[in-house]
Amino acid sequence: MRVRVLATPDAIARMLARDIARRLARNPRLVLGLPTGLTPIPFYRELARLYRAGRVDFSQATTFNLDEFVGLPSSDPRSYRAFMQRYMFDDVNLPSRRAHFLDGMAADIDRECVRYERAIARAGGIDVQILGIGANGHIGFNEPSDALQARTHHTHLRDATRRANAALFGGRLADVPHQALSMGMATILHAKRVVMIATGASKARSVARMVQGPVTPRVPASFLQLHRYAEVWLDRAAASRL
Ligand code: F6R
Repeated sequence: MRVRVLATPDAIARMLARDIARRLARNPRLVLGLPTGLTPIPFYRELARLYRAGRVDFSQATTFNLDEFVGLPSSDPRSYRAFMQRYMFDDVNLPSRRAHFLDGMAADIDRECVRYERAIARAGGIDVQILGIGANGHIGFNEPSDALQARTHHTHLRDATRRANAALFGGRLADVPHQALSMGMATILHAKRVVMIATGASKARSVARMVQGPVTPRVPASFLQLHRYAEVWLDRAAASRL
């Protein structure tokens, strides 16, 4: 894994946004995999700023979000789709038909997972998959367990993960869904390039286990060690246990 340590979360946001803008200039049809969560917000804000400054163009780009809660319609402000609209998509020229999300209200959840995998394949696969890491080592909603799912799947959320999402639900843990849909580990590892971003001391332990520990489903992010081109962009606090 290529580890890059930058001074602050803002420095990560600026450098990564410029990196993506350059990639889009070279390949306007770039396919991006995107996470939600607090970590990527400064990066999404920076992409929106670059767009307003005329320095990035999403008109031919495609995106696939990593995960979504089960039971929330896309119109629900707490859905990950609404999150992406709020922090990035409302502010850039990405055509909505090319912004892909899992449908947490799908009547047939298994079919929905297959549909998503096919849509990724039809788009030619993911060129750059951006990721965040949970304090328990999860990526997407691939939770620590005895075994991981390879492909997009339906999953039950750990309490730690539900607590980490409670802010989206006004701090009410009881309102956080127990189930979600997520890309699987193979879907993530098939991206041509993977960039994990992690900031803050609360991520230092899971970052150290991801980078230096054994590859184990107990730390799903450790599977990124198997990727041919995985980068880990950290601020100093997140890198403090390496
Ligand atoms: C969400 C996702 C999760 C988050 C992780 C960290 O789409 O992929 O793996 O990246 O839970 O969340 P934050 O950034 O809020 O600490």
